[in-house]
Amino acid sequence: MAADSLAHWTSVWTSKRPEETSWFEERSDESLRAVERLGIGPDATVLDVGGGASRFVDGLLERGHTNVAVLDVAAPALDAAKARLGARASVVRWIVGDALEPSTLSALAGTVDVWHDRAMFHFLTDEPAIARYRAALDRALAPTGRVILATFAPDGPEKCSNLPVSRHDAASAERALGPGFRVVESWRTIHRTPWGSEQRFAWSILARS
Ligand SMILES: C[S@@+](CC[C@H](N)C(=O)[O-])C[C@H]1O[C@@H](n2cnc3c(N)ncnc32)[C@H](O)[C@@H]1O
Repeated sequence: MAADSLAHWTSVWTSKRPEETSWFEERSDESLRAVERLGIGPDATVLDVGGGASRFVDGLLERGHTNVAVLDVAAPALDAAKARLGARASVVRWIVGDALEPSTLSALAGTVDVWHDRAMFHFLTDEPAIARYRAALDRALAPTGRVILATFAPDGPEKCSNLPVSRHDAASAERALGPGFRVVESWRTIHRTPWGSEQRFAWSILARS
């Protein structure tokens, strides 16, 4: 990750409260429904990639999940999530680092049952970055693991957090992740930002081919 990108995300998370970001959700219902569809047990390893200060982790803990990890490049985002969770934060594995760096997820290699990414992948706009993401995913994901991927849809916004994004549908998400992955389910949603504008999202569940 370029230093300016790290600076961007650190500055976003130090200058805004989570509720002031466009991607904020009071509850991560769509993500939690996607996890339910996978029919996994409570001890499955769920990793939220680029999780920021998302409340997805809260919902997983409320549903009895015992093996949850949250990864983000911006430490202040994870600090906000930890502060919100209080004592419950101690059961979560918090990882500060660049998801594209091979060393970031080395401790989880081959163990991740659910790779969840809402609105991180779409910041990867060139093939070298996407290739690094693919490699990180391939290393971390268990053989039977699944990917929940949510990006801006082709008719969604062209920018997120003032950065250009790659918009995807299920077919382009599948192409981007390469022949090692296939889409098993896909759907679309509309996210309403805290100030009421609509953002069209495309969701996919992918499995190894
Ligand atoms: C638009 S926010 C989405 C946050 C969260 N997934 C949600 O839905 O609320 C994107 C997040 O990805 C993180 N991020 C961006 N690039 C990253 C990278 N290469 N590695 C890890 N985190 C990254 C940012 O710090 C930010 O928290």
